[in-house]
Amino acid sequence: MILSSDTLSKIALSAPHATRVFAKYRMDFCCGGGTSLSDACIGKGLNSESVLAEIQAAAPLRRSVEADAPLGEVVDHVLSTHHEFTRNIMAEIEKFSVRVAAVHGAQHPEMIVLRDLFADFKAEMELHLLKEERVLFPYIRLLENGAEKDAPVCFSDVGGPIRMMLFEHENAGEDLRKMREVTSDYTLPQAACNTYRLLFHKLQELEEDVHLHMHLENNLLFPRAMELAANPG
Ligand SMILES: [Fe+2]
Ligand SMILES: [Fe+2]
Repeated sequence: MILSSDTLSKIALSAPHATRVFAKYRMDFCCGGGTSLSDACIGKGLNSESVLAEIQAAAPLRRSVEADAPLGEVVDHVLSTHHEFTRNIMAEIEKFSVRVAAVHGAQHPEMIVLRDLFADFKAEMELHLLKEERVLFPYIRLLENGAEKDAPVCFSDVGGPIRMMLFEHENAGEDLRKMREVTSDYTLPQAACNTYRLLFHKLQELEEDVHLHMHLENNLLFPRAMELAANPG
């Protein structure tokens, strides 16, 4: 049962479909997930009972992972659901953003700003995904199997790389906010062409997925890995 005194991260873990409602009201459930639903509603001038009812009525998401699944399974889920999706959609968005800036940039200079903001976001996100895939996630798998001494890279404290990932998540969240701001919340001009529409649609799909992805890492994978490092099986 979900209570309005529960934190946003706790609700998102037990009822993953709640994230759609949080996204609708711009409630930060990944980096700011420690806020209770009632406080988040007060901050937005919303009635927490009606938001709670909306969460309960929301349809379950396509795919998620159990909060107590083995960490290797959580890592597999993050890789196959989010990392792959992020790479594919970013490649599409890059093409659209370059095209829209070239065709409409003179009339809509914010599309040039958007293209450059997105290029920075993509470059940073690609590096971030690689760091997780090559260094942190393999280490978490070894940690779960009690074999962390076999890791090619040894950390004196797994908290260091995790803190670095959390910092990068905050930056990614900030970049997404800026893209939203320059496009006035992805409001299309009246005569927007199909590429313009597709660009805004794909950016919002990316935003929704990145929030869910960072939430799973911030609020499930990383805390459980830290706990395991502190109290090995
Ligand atoms: Fe990730
Ligand atoms: Fe991440």
